[in-house]
Formats: sequence, C-alpha cells, structure tokens
Amino acid sequence: MSFPARRLRRLRSTPAFRRLVAETRLSPDDLVAPLFVREAISEPRPIVSLPGVVQHTVESLTAEAKRLCSLGVPGIILFGVPAAKDARGSAASDRDGIAQVALRAVRDAVGDELVVMADLCLDEYTDHGHCGLVRQDGSVDNDSTLLRYQEVAVAQAEAGAAVVAPSGMMDGQVAAIRAALDEAGFAETAILAYSAKYASGLYGPFREAVDVTIAGGGDRRSYQQDYANATEALAEVRLDLEEGADMVMVKPGVTYLDILAEVAAAVEVPVAAYQVSGEYSMIKVAAERGYIDGEAVALEQLTALKRAGASFVLTYFAGEVAELLGG
Ligand code: PBG
Repeated sequence: MSFPARRLRRLRSTPAFRRLVAETRLSPDDLVAPLFVREAISEPRPIVSLPGVVQHTVESLTAEAKRLCSLGVPGIILFGVPAAKDARGSAASDRDGIAQVALRAVRDAVGDELVVMADLCLDEYTDHGHCGLVRQDGSVDNDSTLLRYQEVAVAQAEAGAAVVAPSGMMDGQVAAIRAALDEAGFAETAILAYSAKYASGLYGPFREAVDVTIAGGGDRRSYQQDYANATEALAEVRLDLEEGADMVMVKPGVTYLDILAEVAAAVEVPVAAYQVSGEYSMIKVAAERGYIDGEAVALEQLTALKRAGASFVLTYFAGEVAELLGG
C-alpha cells in the first residue's frame, strides 16, 4: 500500500485556504465595459442577441457610465450606431456624429473618473458594412482607409476620448493614427490597438448591436486574422508596438488563450483581452435555459483570461461582475 507523498488537496480544503493561495484574482479594476449608443432614439433599445445589453440613448449612456464608475469599473469603450450610413462612413468623423456627441456627454458626466475609450473603425458607419473603404471590385482598400482612420481619430480625441482603439485590422493603422493625433495636438491620447484580432464566428451578436450587414454576404477574412495561425499574431503585435501602440489586444477571448499567453509573455505593455459578443451570449443563453450557472461560468472565463496574461478584459459582463465582486 503506497500513499501519496505530496497532498495537493490540503490547500484546497476550505474557502480561506483557497483564497490564501489563489494566484489570480479578479476585481472590478480588471474590467472594461463595451457600450453602444444609437442616434435618433428616445428610449434605450434591447439587443435581442445580447441579453441584458442595450443600444443607449446619450442620456441612458451617461447614466450607465456613472453607474459603472460607482461600481469601481475603471473603463468603458464606446461604439456609435449612426442614423444614416454611407460608403465612406462619414458619421464616424463628423464632429456631430453620434459617437462624438456621446463622448462629450460622457466626459462631461464622469471627467477622469473613467478611462473613456472609443472603438475606432468604419463598419458601424458604412452602408456596405466593411471596416474600410471598398473599391469598385468589392475589395477593401488599405491606404485610403488609413486616411479615414486619421480623421476619425482626431474627431474622437477632440470629443474627449482618452483612448482610441483601432479595430479595423488595416496594415499601418497605428502609425497613421499616432501621426494624425500628434499633428492635431493630441499627443496625450493613447492608442489601444486591436492587434491580434481574428476573423471569428463569435462576433455574430455584435452585428445586431451595431446594425451591420456585410454587403453581398461578405466577410472580414481579407483583413482579420486566420484562426489557423498563431505566429502572425506576434508579428501584428510587434508592428503595432513599433508604430506607437500604448496597449495591445487579443480578440476574441477564451478560444485564443494560447495567443494571449504568448503575447503577454512577449511584450512590455498592458495586454487587453476582449470577451466578445458571441462568448457572452453563449453563456447568457445557456444560463437562461438552466443548462449552466451563468455567473459561475462568467467568473471562470474572466479569471482564465487574466490567468493567461490579460491586464484587463473588455466584457459585456463588466457591470454584472463588478456587482458580484462587491465593487
Ligand atoms: C469592429 C469591431 C467588431 C467588434 C468590435 N469591433 C466587429 C467585427 O470585427 O466584425 C466585435 C465585438 C464583439 O463581437 O463583441 N468595429
């Protein structure tokens, strides 16, 4: 009869033991809430495929920002949904575009108490639904898109974004945006680069959240990364840092923990993870049906993202989890 020499179970025996030896701790400080604001609505509109998440009015958005602030959440990232879309995504850089109006209102309401970030992309604003400008043949043109991103960045910074977060996966976008911000006098505005962003089926509910249909049944595989690849994620991150990114992101979350761990080990800047819309909805809907405990799975996945190396996590659970954690 041989008994185990080392007993790992001793330190798991009580909640106090487990607290004492926990290597990873999730706190409201780790969370950034993605928020949607829609132009020309008078009441917040539920997003059916993202249970519990709404398209805000400017008014309800500022109220939600204040609530998150009081729960101890340090950041939000804003997505605008314009009333009218066109080929260039004009409203994205319009001084009176919905994102800019909302950014001003939120900054007026919360000042520096929250890190107010702006998603910087064209897809919410273009009638074709692509993240960049589209040529006659339907392909997405890299360099003319960069000029648009420069205009959007300056408009967002001018409206009060402390951080702009380019999510379009165009080559050279960080350098272009950094140059435009500096030129316009916004040297203090930081860039959170969606560096390793994969072409994922998990963005489904987000399309409803921002009313996007990609023209002709198209997809984003000519600019977002192929999920078969890991090495190019490191190249994307390295280039973004060389171009001046202050922070980098891996997206989506749990399906890409290997990428997140590799990136976190390789860089000296904060690394964000984005638990995207499909990840959130899968948990919510399975929980609604009683198949899983939604709160438990949310905490497990968010902790896993931190354990893998995330400095913070963008998540639609931010408010709910901050409340759970007693923030
Ligand atoms: C692009 C953008 C997307 C998301 C964040 N920024 C959509 C896409 O790349 O297709 C997805 C976020 C989510 O699914 O929660 N502006």
